[in-house]
Amino acid sequence: MTTKDSTVTRRAFIVTGGAALAASVVSVASPLQAAPQRRLRMAIVGTGNRGSVTWGEDVVKGYSDTVEIVGLCDINRKRVEVAKKLIGINAPTFVDFDRMISETHPDTVMVTTVDATHARYIVRGLELGCDVMTEKPLCTDEQQCHAILDAQKKSPKKITVTFNARHAPEAKKVKELLMEKAIGDVISVDFHEYLDTSHGADYFRRWHRLKENSGTLLVHKASHHFDLANWWLDSTPVEVTAFGDLKFYGRNNSFRNTHCRVCPFKQQCKFYWDVTQNPQYVKLYTDCESEDGYLRDGCVWREDINIYDTMSVVVKYENGVRLTYTANTFLPYEGQSISINGSRGRLDYNEVKANGFTNNEVRLTRSFGKSEAVTDIEQARAGGHGGADTSIQDLIFRGSPGSDPLNLRAGLRAGALSSLIGIAARHSIERGSQMVKINDLVQM
Ligand SMILES: NC(=O)c1ccc[n+]([C@@H]2O[C@H](COP(=O)([O-])OP(=O)(O)OC[C@H]3O[C@@H](n4cnc5c(N)ncnc54)[C@H](O)[C@@H]3O)[C@@H](O)[C@H]2O)c1
Repeated sequence: MTTKDSTVTRRAFIVTGGAALAASVVSVASPLQAAPQRRLRMAIVGTGNRGSVTWGEDVVKGYSDTVEIVGLCDINRKRVEVAKKLIGINAPTFVDFDRMISETHPDTVMVTTVDATHARYIVRGLELGCDVMTEKPLCTDEQQCHAILDAQKKSPKKITVTFNARHAPEAKKVKELLMEKAIGDVISVDFHEYLDTSHGADYFRRWHRLKENSGTLLVHKASHHFDLANWWLDSTPVEVTAFGDLKFYGRNNSFRNTHCRVCPFKQQCKFYWDVTQNPQYVKLYTDCESEDGYLRDGCVWREDINIYDTMSVVVKYENGVRLTYTANTFLPYEGQSISINGSRGRLDYNEVKANGFTNNEVRLTRSFGKSEAVTDIEQARAGGHGGADTSIQDLIFRGSPGSDPLNLRAGLRAGALSSLIGIAARHSIERGSQMVKINDLVQM
């Protein structure tokens, strides 16, 4: 095993609370010939699925000419070794973050750990002189948000938040149409997120099921959607009122167990899921359970589940727009239904997949005019999340910093505001659906 041992004791897996890549490709000027470009040195902390595949294996396959992965870190010493093999690199592995930074001298750190631990690595990465890229959400509570803002004030380094949802071709088209004022001034937005009994259930199987880890799905999942709304509207959220319940998963069943593999109710449970059918998951998760007890196939009926499975949120923006957002996680189909209502028309973006039914359309309806499906939408790329992962990787590893007409790059402000809507929504629910002002949590 090549994992560098650390003085930090390994803890249980569940950890509670707690530049745009300016350095990307640096050309060395030469009067005679173009010198070879220096590759970006990137270290990754959190080598689960997202760290080892999207920001590991995919980056090695697609961007090795511009990026070099110089170190891998995870609290699970077995998983970090599995990730190294999966990614196919010789970089050293660590269970101690500071040691990884001091020994591998990365330009940038990619944070792909459990959500509630992002803030500590963002802050420490900046303190140690690195640019930081982080998966969403930026943070899971307002204290973490304060800590990151303070660290950023003291550091010239940059934070990038990898909001891949902005990169869906339809999402870009919506942004373009709104920038062109195709529906006049936006007055309100209706955003409905549908998660089905496979994807939705998966959040209730693992660490996301606890508020302490994910900040609830209002932060973990909806930060994507709140970021889309903030980006499309180009305005600042100011007030949040929310409702949330756990009506389906968790204690809402008559039987339960710890996890599917050992469950006596396999035959009768519609949510029985055999993780051993996925060889990569076996290597990354079940073979590493001895280190941290992380059960990838946890029972969706566990009584400790304390997040909501049905949520409604109303957000008021500085420019007067009102967003009405709902998310349900136990549905027979998966997708989104988004309508943006303007002074001169309405824009609908529907993406729904069910057994025998699909509806994938962007529709522009002009007031007193025609309703048309919008067809000049860029072709979806190959790659994860319908090619959105490839698009964001291209922007980060190959994009020229000056050219970003749709403002796809997201930094600290976008990361903070999207998380803060979810954090405010959680507070609102916990306070009996009282309205919460974002400014009372964090002054941006
Ligand atoms: N943008 C997207 O589309 C997208 C999709 C999936 C996940 N994500 C985000 O990526 C991140 C990782 O998600 P995942 O699905 O890969 O989860 P995962 O459970 O597969 O991996 C998380 C990893 O973090 C490690 N970890 C936990 N606490 C740690 C700590 N304190 N220090 C170091 N490592 C720690 C775990 O051991 C595990 O290897 C999450 O923040 C999630 O929100 C984003």
